[in-house]
Amino acid sequence: MKHILSAAQFDRAELEKILALAARMAENLKSDGTRLADGKILATLFYEPSTRTRLSFETAMLRIGGHVISTPDTKFSSVQKGETVEDTIRILSGFADVIAMRSSEIGFAERAAKVSAVPILNAGDGAGEHPTQSLLDLFTISKYFSLDKKICVTFVGDLKFGRTVHSLTTVLRNFPNVQLRFVAPDELKIPEKYRQPADEIFTEISPEILKTTDVLYVTRVQEERFADRAQYERLRDTFIFDAEKISQLPKKSIVLHPLPRINEISPEVDALPQAKYFEQARNGVPVRMALISYVLNLIG
Ligand code: CP
Repeated sequence: MKHILSAAQFDRAELEKILALAARMAENLKSDGTRLADGKILATLFYEPSTRTRLSFETAMLRIGGHVISTPDTKFSSVQKGETVEDTIRILSGFADVIAMRSSEIGFAERAAKVSAVPILNAGDGAGEHPTQSLLDLFTISKYFSLDKKICVTFVGDLKFGRTVHSLTTVLRNFPNVQLRFVAPDELKIPEKYRQPADEIFTEISPEILKTTDVLYVTRVQEERFADRAQYERLRDTFIFDAEKISQLPKKSIVLHPLPRINEISPEVDALPQAKYFEQARNGVPVRMALISYVLNLIG
């Protein structure tokens, strides 16, 4: 049984297979999708808020011909009566063929996978990982740059709590020509476990950094992870990218953001050619069509 629990589980060959499958799914979408998952059921179990991940998983399942059952708000689930995640998963895996889940607890998806009779898709575990997001990020980058050529990906913002950064960093380690650069204040720096000696580390954005960036990956300061409200207020607007800053990037660069954004990318940037974050979110559908098909072994 295939689960998707961490970006660290993928090697390059598997990543390339998933990207190729996502490209096929994107083609299928031009004619409303496929019926590959006819009769299959996806359960979405989200213990934290989501717009893109939950709804793109659900759209993906519908676009491959399957069905969806969902608990978008655990206020109305038996979790409120004290049911454990293990028991919840034992029950759900008797109803559905695959489960996408999100929680504020790091390692929650691994706990679920230990007792599940069906594949678990980690849709975000606290400040841990967001592996399916990293695949749609990689898919988006691969649309604009060859992953075999030298490119520089600059991550900016909350690199400590930003689970999408942790997963994308891990996935990009499979592509040795990709230079990783991390820009964050000390309080939000990338955890040691995601760093390698060749990485470039900065605390502030400079014209030199912008000028030499191919992919600018901006993240929100994750308000919900801060124990100290005053610290969040002090850090929340550390980086704000407006049109003037983005104009310092190379013309062929792209700007990504897992979204939602708060203040870190000004709305005026949306009209610039580098702004690809809405396209990135849309890519969640074909990539998740591919992932569901992959874990359910629907493709030979
Ligand atoms: N990128 C992402 O995880 O968005 P949601 O929180 O809306 O799912």
